[in-house]
Amino acid sequence: MIQAAITGTGLYTPPQSISNDELVACYNAWVERYNRDNAAAIAAGSVPALQASSSEFIFKASGIRSRHVVDRDGILDLDSMRPRIPLRADDEPSLMCEMGVTAAREALARAGREAGDVDLVIVACSNMQRGYPAIAVEIQHFLGAGGYAYDMNVACASAAFGIQAAVDAVRMGNARAALVVSPEICSGHLNWRNRDCHFIFGDAATAVLVEPAAEARSARRFDVLGTRLRTQFSNNIRNNFGFLNACERPQRPWDDVLFHQEGRKVFKEVVPLAAELMIGHLGDLGIEPASVRRFWLHQANLGMNQLIAKRVLGREPDAAEAPVILDEYANTSSAGSVIAFHKYQDDLRSGDVGVLCAFGAGYSVGSVVMKRV
Ligand code: COA
Repeated sequence: MIQAAITGTGLYTPPQSISNDELVACYNAWVERYNRDNAAAIAAGSVPALQASSSEFIFKASGIRSRHVVDRDGILDLDSMRPRIPLRADDEPSLMCEMGVTAAREALARAGREAGDVDLVIVACSNMQRGYPAIAVEIQHFLGAGGYAYDMNVACASAAFGIQAAVDAVRMGNARAALVVSPEICSGHLNWRNRDCHFIFGDAATAVLVEPAAEARSARRFDVLGTRLRTQFSNNIRNNFGFLNACERPQRPWDDVLFHQEGRKVFKEVVPLAAELMIGHLGDLGIEPASVRRFWLHQANLGMNQLIAKRVLGREPDAAEAPVILDEYANTSSAGSVIAFHKYQDDLRSGDVGVLCAFGAGYSVGSVVMKRV
């Protein structure tokens, strides 16, 4: 079996961002307007009044301070409160393609590779902006890669599932350079008018290049020691958007085709799933969890990550052991753990072991154990 290695990572960060204070000011202005417009029904008790959001709550409950987005103005416009994305012609690259290609080019540059070296592109993310052709085939085309390409969606755990697919293809000799691209436009599936979740998501794209270790050109290579995936059905994170929406009778309410969750239940149920997956995976690889130098965890909630790392390490993690990027990026779905990996890998020394662990809707959980060479 061929030893697979991660030889490059890339990140695209949208230049615009929104702070908690800006977001809350917009949300609360909308609540005021809604309550004013519905004053009679609220007074009669037939419509509940909406409650204000607060920056203090958001930071305390999640660890989020701001989020990068593809269109700030549309989200902060009371009349739309969603990103405005200009329609593009079919022969222009889609927004997801453009974001993914930018991240992919950085991953290739860091690996010392050209697009022509790539013979597998996997787009692994939570939301595809159309049914087909696959975004991965579009990225393959605009990047100038060869071979084959396909899309896969395993929600926030998508990058871990994509990396396993890429590693398997390289190990079996079915690909010699496989790109896993995770372009996430989470601002498009977020309900910016729901106080429980309006602060949760941001936009970004990441890319990971997997190659045979023996052919790597990159000095910052990580040999993949193993991957492990698990799924367990749950409706606690759900989005009913789909191609049958227009056919369904009766039609679903507008907010049913956006992200919604039972945040408390997710927190409680996913912490043990992720911790147990990593403990079992490391144990089977003969690696003492306490010896792991870094955990690049999915970035949904700071408290959740601290608890997961504590369960695996058997003590409180320090900031360097489980780095945080969600303060600046919020939850970027499948891109989150890869952003943490991309930004916090250069200080690792030869022989250091790190674990990338992603988790989310499904439920779905995946871990990638790797060693800095
Ligand atoms: N501003 C002010 N108060 C708010 C608020 C807001 N934006 N949103 C909710 N509240 C209130 C609630 O109404 C509730 O009030 P009550 O106690 O009077 O009923 C209180 O704050 C607590 O709300 P709750 O939703 O239970 O908060 P929480 O501590 O569970 O935090 C999340 C919410 C979403 C941040 C947290 O549950 C979480 O991150 N869970 C994990 C989710 C996850 O990982 N999802 C994966 C997605 S890919």
